[in-house]
Amino acid sequence: MRILLVGATGTLGGSVLEVLRGRGHDVVTASRKGSDVPVDITQAGSIQEMYEQVGTVDALASCAGSVPWLPFSELSRQDVLDGIGGKVLSQVELVRQGLARVTGSFTLITGVLARDQLRTGTVAALANGAVEAFVRAAAIELTQRINAVSPTIFTESADHYGDLFAGFEPVPVRQAAGGYVRSIEGHQTGRIYEIG
Ligand SMILES: NC(=O)c1ccc[n+]([C@@H]2O[C@H](COP(=O)([O-])OP(=O)(O)OC[C@H]3O[C@@H](n4cnc5c(N)ncnc54)[C@H](OP(=O)(O)O)[C@@H]3O)[C@@H](O)[C@H]2O)c1
Repeated sequence: MRILLVGATGTLGGSVLEVLRGRGHDVVTASRKGSDVPVDITQAGSIQEMYEQVGTVDALASCAGSVPWLPFSELSRQDVLDGIGGKVLSQVELVRQGLARVTGSFTLITGVLARDQLRTGTVAALANGAVEAFVRAAAIELTQRINAVSPTIFTESADHYGDLFAGFEPVPVRQAAGGYVRSIEGHQTGRIYEIG
């Protein structure tokens, strides 16, 4: 399959790229820097330029989406908007504009905060929950399949978050990459693949 992978240079995206290429897929990479195609998914015009440059693909896989991590009492209205813009609107826009360009499936990224709570994680929870609700609802309207991968903390990222995820069992990022394979090569739609 020809697959457009957004966020391909990151911890998750790098593993998804390796696994998909290892399975013989033709993967076009996208991110703000260092990929085949430049894109800033917080900008609708940038997403449009990406799709125009890449053309038709069988699948769109998103491994990008950022949110602020702060105690709720310290969050500004702008922080909340940044989280929604960075992980929710950005991925919804990848799907909205991708309707005419992606023939087979969309796979979005969420995360464990949608189902498990942490201090400083309110915007992450809000964003992940919104993306998961969107995926379930969009699945009944889209002719393409659409799923989300919702991993817990990766072994490779555990140090970065210090004690924040104390007591959570990290999973190797390659396990999350397996969720993308399941979504892209499988037949299901409207599913949230919880990893870990
Ligand atoms: N790390 C974990 O343990 C973990 C666990 C569960 C869920 N997740 C979720 O998985 C996703 C990826 O996490 P990660 O740890 O792999 O992050 P990461 O290592 O920081 O990688 C993020 C990737 O997305 C790209 N990116 C970031 N902002 C972008 C934008 N506005 N437009 C286009 N590309 C953008 C980055 O490249 P550029 O900076 O060059 O654009 C990079 O390729 C996040 O949504 C995160 O919440 C992560």
